[in-house]
Amino acid sequence: MRPTHCISALLLWACSAAAFFQITNPTTGTEWVDGQTNVVTWEKGLLDNIPGYDVELTRMSQDQILYVAKNVPGKPAGLNIVLDNVPPATDYVLIFINSTHGQLHGTSKPFSILKSGSTPSASSPTVAAVDKAQTATVSGGPNPTTHFQTVFPELDWRSGAASLAVPRGVLGAVMAVALGGAWVVL
Ligand SMILES: *[C@@H]1O[C@H](CO)[C@@H](O)[C@H](O)[C@H]1NC(C)=O
Repeated sequence: MRPTHCISALLLWACSAAAFFQITNPTTGTEWVDGQTNVVTWEKGLLDNIPGYDVELTRMSQDQILYVAKNVPGKPAGLNIVLDNVPPATDYVLIFINSTHGQLHGTSKPFSILKSGSTPSASSPTVAAVDKAQTATVSGGPNPTTHFQTVFPELDWRSGAASLAVPRGVLGAVMAVALGGAWVVL
């Protein structure tokens, strides 16, 4: 079935908001350790036209947000996070968002952060380091900053998609048509 609803310029926003995105690590049962480097991985749609994300760390039982990193490139699909005095808890959630306009791309499953020096249990999913992944350090403590602790260079919205000077809405419609075509062929 062709995604004809995506071709409507009015609904493009809804379509792009629904672009495939999933945080694969941390996940249920993951135990990160404070003071160590921990690996985040994700999967994203190939043609989603989203070059990257702003990453935040929060807890389900609290309002507090730790602003981890801004402009994290979508590729490679990995980010190393060094935890520096982040309080131990079992209800942390990672948020991938565009903090400029608030578009939420995805959240992780709740996971744990153990206190410095701990050994994760054998059931904590292990994850290999991601080649060429960026590294961000996040400091916790009682009065965390209200800005992103690591800011990577501005993302290039045209890389990967096209270097044409067309408005994003038009480009999105063109890509929706191309996708529809691919699905028909398949
Ligand atoms: C968020 O959206 C703005 C405006 O569309 C864009 O310039 C910026 O690069 C985006 N940020 C990320 C992390 O993709």
